[in-house]
Amino acid sequence: MADLATTYMGIPLSSPVLVGACSLSGRLSTIQEVEEAGAGGMVIKSLFEEQIMVEALRLSEQLAVGSERFAESLTYFPPLEHAGPREHLMWVAKSRKAVRMPLFGSLNAVSPDGWAGFARQLQDTGVDGLELNTYAVQTDPDRAPQDVEKDLYDTVQKVVEEVSIPVAVKLSPFYTNLIHVANELDHRGARGLVLFNRFVQPEIDEESQTLRNAMNLSRPEDSRLPLRYIALLHGRVKADLVASTGIHAAGGVVRQLLAGATAVQVVSTLYLHGVDQLSNINAELAGWMDRHGYATLADFRGKLSQEDVPDRFAFERAQYVELLMQQT
Ligand SMILES: Cc1cc2nc3c(=O)[nH]c(=O)nc-3n(C[C@H](O)[C@H](O)[C@H](O)COP(=O)(O)O)c2cc1C
Repeated sequence: MADLATTYMGIPLSSPVLVGACSLSGRLSTIQEVEEAGAGGMVIKSLFEEQIMVEALRLSEQLAVGSERFAESLTYFPPLEHAGPREHLMWVAKSRKAVRMPLFGSLNAVSPDGWAGFARQLQDTGVDGLELNTYAVQTDPDRAPQDVEKDLYDTVQKVVEEVSIPVAVKLSPFYTNLIHVANELDHRGARGLVLFNRFVQPEIDEESQTLRNAMNLSRPEDSRLPLRYIALLHGRVKADLVASTGIHAAGGVVRQLLAGATAVQVVSTLYLHGVDQLSNINAELAGWMDRHGYATLADFRGKLSQEDVPDRFAFERAQYVELLMQQT
């Protein structure tokens, strides 16, 4: 029987299939089902900057009410900037106690300052690693791309220096030169790169002429974007590469491993088919390995990465030109 074990950022995983950050981590029973279904680990949903601000605001209102009566009691409260995420941190600590599989905390780290402290508090919950979710939409015309990227690098470096557990960065695909960004993050100490986050895009309802918030799940063909960059980055960075977006079944996992992924993250497929999909994926992945004579993941990981395919341009522009020519 094929061995699905692997190591991600130095952490042993029983399977390369991780559950990505999502609301499934909001229930202890679901986290336990995820473990029973054979997930290699799970990322707890992100602690978002907005969440921290809202909680801090609520607490400051409560403090203001109390201060009318007991002014001196204010000194008993922790500093405001650290009071915000307490509910989230308590939840992560509780989740940590409920299962044995590796758990990763996630922070929506968009600004360089302040995040190191939250990262340390997440570490104190006992999680095995951190994932920095860099989801941000830039709208300031005066902020140059290099400023945005510098903030990202500085944030990652600060967090890496602050904690002793390994730190992964979950990236957006929207960079002019993603390979450069990945390299720089590698140098700043990121032990994992998660490619990619999937932005929730706004939608307009044309009948009511109003904005609509629609959480669309991914489709399997969306996995071709991470596939390309996993293949391009394999062997070029020290950080482990994790594919995320559009991985719905075992075939998708195999393709990302062939491109060079250390592990994959799945979310949409669990919303579509239930948590048991994890055991189907593991069984089918093992079946594929048996059929192809692979005993371990290392036997075929990266076999089709850019450095290992005969046509080195297959993952670059050449493929695009070739395909367009075939259509005429
Ligand atoms: C309901 C839901 C909640 C999510 N919450 C988070 C989150 O808190 N932090 C994060 O980094 N990504 C979050 N994501 C994004 C997923 O982790 C993942 O990157 C994305 O869904 C693409 O993977 P998929 O194609 O397997 O769904 C969420 C996705 C969904 C569907």
